[in-house]
Amino acid sequence: MKGNVLITGANRGLGYELVKCFHSNHYQVFPLVRSEEAAIDLMAEYNDRCYPIVADVRLDDCKESIQSTIRNFTDKIDIVINNAGIPGRSRELEKVEPEEISELLNVHCLGVLRVVQAAMAFLQNGDNPRIINVSSRLGSLSKMASAEFRNRKFTYSYRVAKAAQNMLTICMDQEFSKKGICIRAIHPGVFISGPSSLDGDLEVHEAAGHIFRWIDGMEINRSERFIQPGVGELPW
Ligand SMILES: NC(=O)c1ccc[n+]([C@@H]2O[C@H](COP(=O)([O-])OP(=O)(O)OC[C@H]3O[C@@H](n4cnc5c(N)ncnc54)[C@H](OP(=O)(O)O)[C@@H]3O)[C@@H](O)[C@H]2O)c1
Repeated sequence: MKGNVLITGANRGLGYELVKCFHSNHYQVFPLVRSEEAAIDLMAEYNDRCYPIVADVRLDDCKESIQSTIRNFTDKIDIVINNAGIPGRSRELEKVEPEEISELLNVHCLGVLRVVQAAMAFLQNGDNPRIINVSSRLGSLSKMASAEFRNRKFTYSYRVAKAAQNMLTICMDQEFSKKGICIRAIHPGVFISGPSSLDGDLEVHEAAGHIFRWIDGMEINRSERFIQPGVGELPW
């Protein structure tokens, strides 16, 4: 067994493909999903080394669910992948409701905070502990402020929430790199089948493969802090 990995948003999309990659490469996986049904489906698919956590990262009690499930099987986690996410809705200021921004901040930023707080004691026992926050190119202030997306309309809430998540990544990196915990933000690519597929550039299983190889091959330990695995560094 190669190591223990916690992956949020693991019942579909990129999270599901990441579980598949890590499991088939001999990791023990802790997929975080929101329903008992999703947990049962994953346990039916993987009859060993797969221990689903049922939790909602919007709620403070997710920490207890994460800790109690992990504690049943191990005292260490090597990798946490904060992948759970939701899309935004409103692209024009007058239609943006504060609740929408609040909802996305809760998932993308506070959700990451809760999961990392819950996992920290286990990460401190981990081998080469790593935290990967699945962000987006749309969370890059530099890219947004430059002309790169001038003719595209993206939602306010998603961009605000991913930028906030990026700042959380920077804050955590500054606190924890000295303590040997590696923390990175990634843009996973734009999935062809995803909601923002206008300029989709890869299949979701290909994105998962790039991310797995980058983490497992220890390229993650290079100096870049915000990166698209398989492609290169992004500006904050
Ligand atoms: N799609 C793209 O092209 C693209 C591009 C750049 C970045 N990203 C980022 O990559 C990540 C994965 O994207 P995806 O397209 O694979 O997403 P997806 O297919 O929509 O799946 C999202 C996952 O997150 C889970 N989730 C949502 N809210 C949650 C909560 N409160 N607590 C726990 N789990 C929750 C969902 O669970 P349920 O099934 O229960 O809803 C689902 O498993 C996201 O963070 C996204 O922002 C995606």
